[in-house]
Amino acid sequence: MQLIDYRRDNQLALIGLCNAPVNALGHGLRQALMQACTRAAADPEVKAIILHGHHLPFSAGADISEFGSPRTWQQPALPQLLDELVRFSKPLIAALDGVALGGGLELALACRHRVASATARLGLPEVRLGLLPGAGGTQRLPRLIGVAPALALMLGGEPIDARQGLTLGLVDHLVEPGQDLLEQACAFARRQLAHPAPALTPAPLSQGLADDFFDTHAAQLAARKPGQRAPLRVLAALRAACELPLAEGLAREQALFREALQDPQATALRHQFFAEREALRVPGIDAATALRSIAQVAVIGAGTMGAGIAMNFINAGLPVRLLELKPEALDRGLAQIRKHYESSITRGKLTPAQLEQRMSLLQGTLDYADLADADLVIEAVFEDLSIKQSVFRTLDRVCKPGAILASNTSTLDVDRIAASTRRPQDVVGLHFFSPAHVMRLLEVVRGRATAPDVLATTLKIAKRIGKLPVVSGVCFGFIGNRMLEPYAREAHRLVLEGASPAQVDKVLTDLGLAMGVFAMYDLAGIDVGYLVRQARRNELAHDPSYFRLADELYSLGRHGQKSGRGFYRYEGRERIEDPEVVQIAARLAGKLGINRRSISDAEIHDRCLFTLINEGLQLLDEGIALRSGDIDLVWTNGYGFPAWRGGPLHYARDLGLDNVLAGIEQLRERLGAYGQLWLQPAPLLRRLAGSGKLRVQGH
Ligand code: CAA
Repeated sequence: MQLIDYRRDNQLALIGLCNAPVNALGHGLRQALMQACTRAAADPEVKAIILHGHHLPFSAGADISEFGSPRTWQQPALPQLLDELVRFSKPLIAALDGVALGGGLELALACRHRVASATARLGLPEVRLGLLPGAGGTQRLPRLIGVAPALALMLGGEPIDARQGLTLGLVDHLVEPGQDLLEQACAFARRQLAHPAPALTPAPLSQGLADDFFDTHAAQLAARKPGQRAPLRVLAALRAACELPLAEGLAREQALFREALQDPQATALRHQFFAEREALRVPGIDAATALRSIAQVAVIGAGTMGAGIAMNFINAGLPVRLLELKPEALDRGLAQIRKHYESSITRGKLTPAQLEQRMSLLQGTLDYADLADADLVIEAVFEDLSIKQSVFRTLDRVCKPGAILASNTSTLDVDRIAASTRRPQDVVGLHFFSPAHVMRLLEVVRGRATAPDVLATTLKIAKRIGKLPVVSGVCFGFIGNRMLEPYAREAHRLVLEGASPAQVDKVLTDLGLAMGVFAMYDLAGIDVGYLVRQARRNELAHDPSYFRLADELYSLGRHGQKSGRGFYRYEGRERIEDPEVVQIAARLAGKLGINRRSISDAEIHDRCLFTLINEGLQLLDEGIALRSGDIDLVWTNGYGFPAWRGGPLHYARDLGLDNVLAGIEQLRERLGAYGQLWLQPAPLLRRLAGSGKLRVQGH
């Protein structure tokens, strides 16, 4: 495979990178690039060298799949390659198109100049992989654009567009749409030959920084990203740029990068990276599957969920009909959407013209007949099987053949919903998470009859609206809520046995979860969980302590944050521990004959986490989840599990599956009848314990 396209244009050498799809800088490409640059340097006719992506994005950086293998450091390793290029006496110019990310942007920083298409996106996302820029970025970027903007780019990890790059001084020349990038880069290079620019200063950079700059940022990171080591390493490398000459700074960066690469947090984040890409691949559905066309979307129900779902599509430029039964409810939904966009304008995230453009894509209706031409209909009505079935019966009557009929149920049986139509092959579950216009996760529930092209089309459309789709089979709660049940059950039971909600939540947030169980229930609404349990009372195993505390709080009108009281008390949004809840728990424990005792943090950890992991393995065994990575994605993107721990099943591997099994067995023993009833190790856990292997694809 040819990895470099080498051309001459008079005094210029044009070196095109050809490593599809994204010009990842793997060993082969590094070697070919080095050879091509050396050839250009040796050619006396060549006065300047232009690097570009040959009909491809410039570069998405180091080859992530090499990390953890010796290939990362096989010469020329990226830092050494870039050091060589910086030393070339002939100027290098990077012509940036598509993306220049991570090592790709660092390659551009090793060039004397950067010319970029206006649509190019530039960034240093390494922190999202648990790393820091490791090929000179932490030293060269601040020397080019200043310490504070460099820190923001490295800590945020979010790419900027080339126009912002121009403002920051990262880009020297912007190529407007309609202009040819390479032509412009060549013209720019010729101008530079007459007036060569100076190289970056090798001196340390400390000028103008407050004395406490680094300490303040370290304290902020500890508060905002507790437990995460990569942001602190970024800060340490930047400090080196301020205090050390360039060569020493580069050596410090290198040492920090090598350390980061070994860190389990980086392994966990890499697992997340590949799991995200793997999630789009569904066995039995290949790239050749013809997709259904989606030009018109409809959403049924203009409540908070329906409105949020509708916004996803209009944000992506797809027209939406929003259906409600009552005019007041419809007006409320439409007003809620407009209000959301107005607040985006206030925050400078949207222009008034964009608001009008988005609202013009939205049409309210009270009449099902208006859904006749919709290609995709998403139902977001009350979570009740018979109501949903009746909506689907109506959809079956009014929708055109081939329309995809989706339910936003979070727990109900998609097959039973599908059975209420004469076209179950067109029915799929699309479980959006709240707030639906913000949360990336989308559980795509594949019913028994769901047609392959329906699944493929929904995965595609999910990506188009910026979601992360994860396929789940049909069962109560799908992947996420099914696992939530035993995890939250243990949390509730622990409070009856003597822990406080705050103690349980703290153990979980100390592990890195965004929220503990009880804060989450208060936010979601204790009434919501109660109603779901009510609908399932008959099928639930008989255990009078099961979610008893939540049921009691519900009956006391303590519905969570919205009613000012739940597991906690609320003053505005401030969450305050409430001793009354502990008293209620003690009273219930007395009634149920549960001995109260002091509960250790370790027990809380084990009971909540082991049951979560156990249920995940059970789901995997049942085939509800296709891969352990899918389960991890659901929990990191939908339930606040820390991505830097990789997700619950990746974490289980770190804990050791044999330790998890032994822990469950000990608890089962220790907790008597309760343990016998609930803490049953999943057969897959027994099979895997000792081997430590999980079905994790992608790396
Ligand atoms: N290394 C290896 N493979 C990569 C890659 C990389 N840096 N970036 C993307 N790929 C692969 C993906 O795994 C995917 O492969 P499959 O088709 O086999 O699944 C393929 O390229 C296409 O990627 P996406 O599906 O993500 O395509 P997209 O168009 O949605 O997004 C992208 C493209 C914006 C470049 C996105 O892939 C991305 O963000 N990539 C990662 C960028 C990154 O984090 N770079 C930093 C690397 S670390 C580094 O550079 C360290 C250093 O300092 C030396």
